[in-house]
Amino acid sequence: MANPASGPAHHPASGNDRLDRLSDYPFTRLAALLAGITPRANAEPTIMSIGEPQHAPPALIAETLAANAHLWGKYPPLAGTPDFRAAVGDWLTRRFALPAGSFDADNMVLPVAGTREALFLTALLAVPERRAGGTPAVLIPNPFYAVYEGGAVLAGAEPVFLSSTAATGFLPDLDALTPDLLERTALLYLCTPSNPQGAAADAAYLGRAIALARRYGFVLAVDECYSEIYLDRPPVGALQVAAAMETGGGLWDNVLVFHSLSKRSNAAGLRSGFVAGDPALIARFARLRSYANAGTPLPALAAAAALWRDEAHVEENRRLYRDKFAAAEAALGGRFGYRRPDGGFFLWLDVGDGESAARRLWDEGAIRVLPGAYLSGSAPGQPNPGASFIRVALVHDADVVARACAAIARILG
Ligand SMILES: Cc1ncc(COP(=O)(O)O)c(C=O)c1O
Repeated sequence: MANPASGPAHHPASGNDRLDRLSDYPFTRLAALLAGITPRANAEPTIMSIGEPQHAPPALIAETLAANAHLWGKYPPLAGTPDFRAAVGDWLTRRFALPAGSFDADNMVLPVAGTREALFLTALLAVPERRAGGTPAVLIPNPFYAVYEGGAVLAGAEPVFLSSTAATGFLPDLDALTPDLLERTALLYLCTPSNPQGAAADAAYLGRAIALARRYGFVLAVDECYSEIYLDRPPVGALQVAAAMETGGGLWDNVLVFHSLSKRSNAAGLRSGFVAGDPALIARFARLRSYANAGTPLPALAAAAALWRDEAHVEENRRLYRDKFAAAEAALGGRFGYRRPDGGFFLWLDVGDGESAARRLWDEGAIRVLPGAYLSGSAPGQPNPGASFIRVALVHDADVVARACAAIARILG
C-alpha cells in the first residue's frame, strides 16, 4: 500500500463551497462593471455608490479616544462596559419612548464592530440544522443589504427573497407568506428605513412581523441603522412596538434591533454599533460572540457612549440631509420615479437598465453609482426587481449633490 505521506499527491484545499453560492459583493461587481472605463468628464470623480457619510465626524470622538488612551492595552469585555450599555439603554428609552425601567441594559445590549458583522452573525445565531423537517428558510427583503444573504447562505439556510417594490410599499408583503414557509422560517430580516428605497415600516407593520415571529418561533432581526437619518418624522422602532404589544411571554421575545454610529454619527471608521432586544437571544449572542469576535476596544466604547448621549450632531446631520434631498428634488424634478424617502440617504431611481446607466454615468460624468441589480436577487421564475434601478448615495454636501443630480438628469435624459 502506498504511504499516504510519501507520494506526489497534491490537493488544493477545497474550502467551504457555500461561499461559491454567493455572487461577488456589490462593490466588487461594480469595480468589474466599470473596469476599463476612464471617465471622459474632466472632473473629480463623485463617488455616490457607497453609503459612507462625508460629513465631518464629531470632535467628541477624537476627544474621548484621547481621554481614554490609557485603556488601549486592555482586552475589552465582549459585553462592553456598564457605561456603554447604560448610554445605549438611555438612548433607546428616550428615542423610542420605552416605558421607564422596562429596558434592562445589562442583559439586553451587546456592542458590535459595526452592524454588518452582527447582522451576518445573526444568521448563525438563528439557523438550526433543520426546521419543520426541511432546510431552514431565512426571509430577506428584496432588494436588500448583501450581508443578509451572506449570513443566510453561510449558515446553511435557504435565502428566500421577498419582493419589496412600489406595489408592496417597498417592504415585504407579510400577508403573502404561506404557513408552509413560515413553519420553515428561522429568521426574518427587515430593514427600516430600508436600504435602498428609504421606506419606513409603521407600527402596525412591525406589530404584524413581531406577531408572526412569535407565532412561528423565529428570530426577527430589524436593521434600524438608518433610523436617525429621517426627513420629516422619526420612524418607529421594533422595540417601541414590542413594548406596546400584548404578549403571552416576555415583552421583547424574538426581537432584535440593530443600530449603528456609522450613519447617525458619520463614524463609519469607528466600527461601532449595537444589537439589542430579547434577553434570551442576547445571552446566546454573547455566547456566539465569545467564540467568533473580538470586543470593541475600550476607548472606542467610551467614544461610542459619548456619541449616543449627544443628539446635537445628529440634528445637524438631518438638516444637512434635508438640504441634499431638496437639491436632488430640484435637479431631478420627479424624473426616474423619484420619491422622497422616509429615511436614509439614498435615491432609488428607475432608469430602465441600471448597469448601463451606471456605465454611462461613470463614462460621461465621472459619477459612480450602484446598479440596483447588485442589491437584489431573483426569486425562481421572477425577474430581478432591482434591475432597472440605480442607487445614488447622497453622502456629499448639497452643492456636490445638486451638480451630480443635474448631471444624472442630463446624461440619462
Ligand atoms: C442596511 C444596512 N445595514 C447595516 C449596514 C452596516 O453598517 P455598519 O457595519 O457600518 O454599522 C449598512 C451599511 O451600509 C447598511 O446599509
